[in-house]
Amino acid sequence: MKPILMLGGTGKTGRRIASQLAARAIPVRIGSRGNTPSFDWNDRATWASALAGVSAAYISYNPDLAAPGASEAVGAFADLAVAMGVKRLILLSGRGEPEAQRAEDMLKRSGADWTILRCSWFMQNFSESFMLDAVLSGQVALPVGAVGEPFVDADDIADVAVAAFIDDRHIGQLYELTGPRLLTFAEAIKEIAEASGRDIRFVRLTPEEFSASLAEQQLPEDLIALLKMLFTEVLDGRNEHLSDGVSDALHRPARDFTDYARAVATSGVWGGAQ
Ligand SMILES: NC(=O)c1ccc[n+]([C@@H]2O[C@H](COP(=O)([O-])OP(=O)(O)OC[C@H]3O[C@@H](n4cnc5c(N)ncnc54)[C@H](OP(=O)(O)O)[C@@H]3O)[C@@H](O)[C@H]2O)c1
Repeated sequence: MKPILMLGGTGKTGRRIASQLAARAIPVRIGSRGNTPSFDWNDRATWASALAGVSAAYISYNPDLAAPGASEAVGAFADLAVAMGVKRLILLSGRGEPEAQRAEDMLKRSGADWTILRCSWFMQNFSESFMLDAVLSGQVALPVGAVGEPFVDADDIADVAVAAFIDDRHIGQLYELTGPRLLTFAEAIKEIAEASGRDIRFVRLTPEEFSASLAEQQLPEDLIALLKMLFTEVLDGRNEHLSDGVSDALHRPARDFTDYARAVATSGVWGGAQ
């Protein structure tokens, strides 16, 4: 059996999909800079060897599908995949992000047998990603107000991706994947504090204060601009609604933030009383 190429296969979603496929004895090739052969979005010379001999690919773009140039890179990757006979492509996308929606269009135009997973913010950003350090420090300071976001569990995204890889009825489907409940960032932090038994504060910053604090941490300018855009434009209310993608694809409800918070607290990742 030919392997499935898992771009970002050690990341929040790719790692989960890869392990579920491996449990089903479906071979997987991880596509990342740390793998052999190496795959690097910034080095097109690495793309063909990652695609050689695979049956399908999961496309998780890095650093973010909302970043300038993402759609062009995803389009070029999809065109190369189709030219190499790899037609089954699943794209991890984001909601309300013009560059991500352009990438979706490029995928559709490539001639691939596509499925698109257009996701809300991941719950796992608080436990496996850039917000974990702030949670651990006891203060999460962001330029976002009382806007509700339906955080989605990366396990649900992985379940939908695996279903799509093993069942061709998902070809041509765009699933908008959200959690079952809108929460503000302040409410999400409150749930994390309660679940972990820790004192964690949410502080609202202005966009300027946020950029200045990231600059102090010596983050590169393009990353600061990207984070500022994600927290301001994408969280301006345009995505303040629930979608049925998880139940449409899996015929079960999406996982709730409280269950996620309790499970992570029990794992000890956030410290505190468990
Ligand atoms: N986080 C959210 O809330 C959210 C919401 C909606 C959509 N998204 C989309 O999700 C995608 C990120 O997916 P994720 O969260 O599953 O992954 P992730 O955890 O952010 O990604 C880490 C993975 O990407 C690889 N990687 C990093 N830089 C790379 C590069 N230059 N070339 C190739 N691989 C690289 C890493 O491996 P190496 O270090 O070995 O290369 C690792 O496997 C983004 O496109 C984003 O737009 C995110």
